[in-house]
Amino acid sequence: PLQAFIFDLDGVITESAEYHYLAWKALGEDLNIPFTREFNEELKGVSRMDSLEKILVLGGRQNDFTPEQKNSLAEKKNDHYCTLIQNITPADILPGIEPLLAEIRANGLKLGLASVSKNAFTVMTSLGLKDEFDVIVDAATISKGKPDPEIFLTAARLLGVEATACIGVEDAAAGVDSIKGAGMFAVGVGSPESLAKADLLYPNTSLLSYAEIVAKYQQA
Ligand code: BG6
Ligand code: MG
Repeated sequence: PLQAFIFDLDGVITESAEYHYLAWKALGEDLNIPFTREFNEELKGVSRMDSLEKILVLGGRQNDFTPEQKNSLAEKKNDHYCTLIQNITPADILPGIEPLLAEIRANGLKLGLASVSKNAFTVMTSLGLKDEFDVIVDAATISKGKPDPEIFLTAARLLGVEATACIGVEDAAAGVDSIKGAGMFAVGVGSPESLAKADLLYPNTSLLSYAEIVAKYQQA
């Protein structure tokens, strides 16, 4: 039986995915590597250093920088990102998320967060949600980022539940791969082009339906 929901943070609980995009886009332009929103789909859910590498590869510039230089490029992006998330408040929780969390709780299920972001605690604190979750797994806890299943498996283990008793919620292709690799039921939020592997897809968070998600999970 279903025991837990495990949520991604950026782009699911709040619109910080847009801030990651804006900060990477600015860095890309500095490096003469402009990129599209379509390419950005490949960065969603991917760790900071892996994202930088993908951008450099896109521009054919992966061999132009030393590891130290790559660290400072990533730091520059993060400084920009941190200024963008400074004013996040509980009002920035995406529509549909609070009612869904409340229904999960009311049904006695556990709640986990699986975010590869080193800023996850900061963002969760600003949203006023840090204490709502039984477990928060972030970059500090894991060795392999999404699409590896490690982060969702770790969340399930720390919640004390089987992976098959969990539903994962994601806006990123790498995140859906991570959920499916963990053997969980995947709810995608976004477009069918990027999230084809999700078991159930919603165009945006305001359409998330607890009853429908649970019904589809039980049929699967
Ligand atoms: C993920 C985002 O949640 O965290 C990615 O979807 C981001 O876009 C990654 O690169 C790492 O975040 P941070 O805050 O550690 O740079
Ligand atoms: Mg995300």
